[in-house]
Amino acid sequence: MSNYHVKTLEEYFQLYRKSVRNPELFWEEIAEEHFVWRKKWDKVVEYDFSKPEFKWFEGAKLNITENCIDRHIHIRGDKTAILFEPNNPDEEAEHISYKELHKRVCKFANVLKEQGIKKGDRVCIYLPMIPELAISILACARIGAVHSVVFAGFSSTALATRINDCEAKMVITSDGSYRGAKTIDLKSIVDEALESCPSIETVLVAKRIHSDIELKEGRDKWLAPLLEEAYQDCVPEIMDAEDPLFILYTSGSTGSPKGMLHTTAGYMVYTAYTFKNVFNYKENDVYWCTADIGWITGHSYIVYGPLANGATTVMFEGVPSYPDFGRFWEVIEKHKITQFYTAPTAIRALAKENLDFVDSHDLSSLKVLGTVGEPINEEAWHWYNDNVGKKKNPIVDTWWQTETGGIMISPLPYLTPTKPTYATLPLPGIQLALIDEKGKEIKGNQVDGRLCVKYPWPSMARSIWGNHQRYKETYFSAYDNMYFTGDGALRDEVGYYRITGRVDDVIIVSGHNLGTAPIEDSVNEHPAVAESAIVGFPHDVKGNALYGYVILKETGEERNQDNLRKEINQIITEHIGPIAKLDKIQFVEGLPKTRSGKIMRRILRKIAHNELSNLGDVSTLLNPEVVENIIKERL
Ligand code: WTA
Repeated sequence: MSNYHVKTLEEYFQLYRKSVRNPELFWEEIAEEHFVWRKKWDKVVEYDFSKPEFKWFEGAKLNITENCIDRHIHIRGDKTAILFEPNNPDEEAEHISYKELHKRVCKFANVLKEQGIKKGDRVCIYLPMIPELAISILACARIGAVHSVVFAGFSSTALATRINDCEAKMVITSDGSYRGAKTIDLKSIVDEALESCPSIETVLVAKRIHSDIELKEGRDKWLAPLLEEAYQDCVPEIMDAEDPLFILYTSGSTGSPKGMLHTTAGYMVYTAYTFKNVFNYKENDVYWCTADIGWITGHSYIVYGPLANGATTVMFEGVPSYPDFGRFWEVIEKHKITQFYTAPTAIRALAKENLDFVDSHDLSSLKVLGTVGEPINEEAWHWYNDNVGKKKNPIVDTWWQTETGGIMISPLPYLTPTKPTYATLPLPGIQLALIDEKGKEIKGNQVDGRLCVKYPWPSMARSIWGNHQRYKETYFSAYDNMYFTGDGALRDEVGYYRITGRVDDVIIVSGHNLGTAPIEDSVNEHPAVAESAIVGFPHDVKGNALYGYVILKETGEERNQDNLRKEINQIITEHIGPIAKLDKIQFVEGLPKTRSGKIMRRILRKIAHNELSNLGDVSTLLNPEVVENIIKERL
């Protein structure tokens, strides 16, 4: 029996038990069999939840790109590694073979070196979904540089914050990007950001939209001529198991984003193992994950996991609605996609459109469907199952986080009976716990609580870049000897898990994590705003949308409220990006506060949800009288 690939439900239970009884043996067998190591480890895992410190495969030496590229060249060199599907369906798709990928990654790695990038340096990547994005990530990994990809929908302020936090030496960007019918001028966003980023020495610019942009003398360089000149082989840097691989920022409940730090060996082993099992991957499959590589889903399940398995992974530049709402289904037919992994928000948006968009395409190549990023509601699940999967493809509802590095809870296709809205069972190797209000573990079934993980796993984030204390406080201080996820969950009568949502001040909008604090900070920058509070409310496409309660400064002047709303959203767009715009903005006289002055978001949330009958006891508030007014004028 191989630990790497689970073949029957019985094997799942056996492996699960083995992984709990002897985690070291379980992970060792997976790591032994399936990877290229320059040197094996001295110890599988060492950990201390109180520090907190986690080390996997310590003593091992490797390079992740040897595992994702070099070792495949001899057995599947001409196989497509990356299949690039451009934004415009009339532009030809690009098939990059493993051999070709090797050459392009090596050349890029040599360019990085020539530009002075060394092992341990941070490189910020701000690119659209074009092959250079995946290639630059791998090129960093090739030479031991730490990549920090910033989603190309973020604003210049958000980009600058992330560059400065990790003191990146270089930005890799493009002259612009295509998104549906729009083009976006990425380079000028970078230029604006770099006005306040002293650590940046070089900007490499890929050509995508061929726009007329200016290069700043001494700092900016076109990528293509450098690549052309570069040597096509690059000896991989031999890394220690715990050397940093990348930083990826995620929102927290305070103002600044958290740079989650992932390291090399454990991340590789875990993403490869979960990719193989969760998608039931077979050699000739054509796998497509629609996420952007700017998010963790793209890192783990477009780049590293699939390539470590020698898979063909699709990179899609476009959007589901361009040139029409049939684009996803057209691409599935065109490339005979076997596994399709997307977000509930995309499913909900497409389910609103005419079914002909789906039915006019042959989707018979599909074998497995997946969802990620937020809870999938029952209606969307059924629409996906009936119309895309034709009731014959299992849906894997995968629960995980930027912090976990890889999928933690998911059905295994064709093995685990699925249940709509349930992520079902933890993968072998993952030990979950539900914790009650008092911090005690809740045993048994038909219970709910806060979701925690009580044993380390290989791909967990090791720290928050530059702020280990915050890592400790956020994830390891709520409960002893456990990782706290920030999510609530229930366990049904057979032990299946259903994620019920965040229990902190993070709101998931269209699958994107947004912390309320940084958005409130932006709103408060408007000169007319005195104070604000933001909560989520249910939205039929985005899952959640944002509701802002705003107190204006007393000026004695009458202001046009619609203009104010626009201006507030404009500030949010500039500081964070359009994904964080508020759907509703209610101007209020006061915000409900506790006696210690904390805003009672619980009450505001209920009002935004229109759950007015059970607001709870408001009499203990500092200012109970404001609640009635807020209710009266709610939007
Ligand atoms: C939520 C995305 C319900 C959850 C990979 C988690 C989910 C947060 C699911 C992490 C799911 C993710 N069902 N909720 N299948 N998957 N979430 O860091 O609240 O962008 O904590 O990672 O998304 O979001 P992140």
